[in-house]
Amino acid sequence: MPSESATAGRLAALGRRLAEWRPLWAPLPFQHREPPWRGAHGGLAETLLSLPDAEVERLQADPFVDSPLPAWLPVRELAELSRLPILSNARQSLPADWGEGIGARKWRQIQAFVAGMGAIEDERLVEWCAGKGHLARTLARCHGVPVTGLEHQPSLCEAGQALADREGLPVRLHAQDVLAPGAGDWLAPGHRVAALHACGDLHAQLLEWAAERGAAVSLAPCCYHRTAATDYRALSRQGRALMAEQGLRLTREDLAMAVQETVTAPRGHRRHRQRANAWRLGFDLLQREARGRDAYLPVPSLAYGRLPEDFAGFCRWAAERKGVELPASVDWGAFEAAGWRRLAEVSRLELVRQLFRRPLEVWLALDRVARLEEAGFRVRLGTFCERALTPRNLLIETL
Ligand SMILES: C[S@@+](CC[C@H](N)C(=O)[O-])C[C@H]1O[C@@H](n2cnc3c(N)ncnc32)[C@H](O)[C@@H]1O
Repeated sequence: MPSESATAGRLAALGRRLAEWRPLWAPLPFQHREPPWRGAHGGLAETLLSLPDAEVERLQADPFVDSPLPAWLPVRELAELSRLPILSNARQSLPADWGEGIGARKWRQIQAFVAGMGAIEDERLVEWCAGKGHLARTLARCHGVPVTGLEHQPSLCEAGQALADREGLPVRLHAQDVLAPGAGDWLAPGHRVAALHACGDLHAQLLEWAAERGAAVSLAPCCYHRTAATDYRALSRQGRALMAEQGLRLTREDLAMAVQETVTAPRGHRRHRQRANAWRLGFDLLQREARGRDAYLPVPSLAYGRLPEDFAGFCRWAAERKGVELPASVDWGAFEAAGWRRLAEVSRLELVRQLFRRPLEVWLALDRVARLEEAGFRVRLGTFCERALTPRNLLIETL
């Protein structure tokens, strides 16, 4: 169980590493022909670029195990500082018919989340950003208590209410924007708010209300970068003081790194994404030449299944979107091959960011823990499931 001083100590230690190594983890290799740190850390770049494909894939999945990088980067310390206890001991699953109408992966996440939550004793339950209230229904069944769900989309509330009614469960879904001024009225001492995968501002607002109203919280945060602010302002006083003292700056783009992981994507989707990325990199080289400007040009991403048939079609689409005039004749094969070569380099250089990804996520979680501790709560932080089930597997819970 972290104490307030343990939280502060770890926040400080992680923050120091993040601030010190920011010049290496913040730049996106995708956007630079050469990483800006290459001159100062040539040996690191050479080591990364010489890694075989299988080693790259292994390190993407687990950057701390048998890393070839401790000569350059604080691998062991980062692994140690981001290690967390496992909070869910659930091996036993809930009755399969409770999961009807819920996607298989989401149902497994819900079971793990519910098992990771501590005992619910005389608490009134609220689900924050409930969607169709799948978690709310499961909590109502597990604990035999009424659950209130808050969700801003009326259509989801209606569909979720129909499911709960059909199953005769004491769940009430309310169309509520949780960012609206009155949302805190749903919270009071004796209430526990459960939030599974609530994004940036949505869960940050929950913590503010919980702190103000004295409601308990069980939160699995998600998408830290979905915020109105472009620069991160720590939620806790300690976090703000340490950021200032350590010179740690985090932009919204930096926060996105905390959730950049593909472990749960099916193989077919991963292959599709690789092709899309190679083509984007190939187009990047082409547009630099066509515009006569050696600068990255962001191209919007395409939904799965929307990628044009071939590389030339992709480049024509991207050029039109970005108003780039392509030359009359292009050696498509050469640019496509260059794109694939760039992708091989980029995925190797990305391993530096991969090493700081979980430490950043744990730092953000600790900032949330500190916010709650400053409001007087005792808090635990750990994981509620394996990363393969969802990489967003942190659970922050007040006791
Ligand atoms: C990532 S989903 C999580 C849903 C559910 N907890 C789950 O794990 O499947 C986020 C949900 O928050 C809802 N949402 C987004 N903005 C909201 C807001 N301002 N107020 C209330 N709900 C919101 C979305 O409609 C969506 O159902």
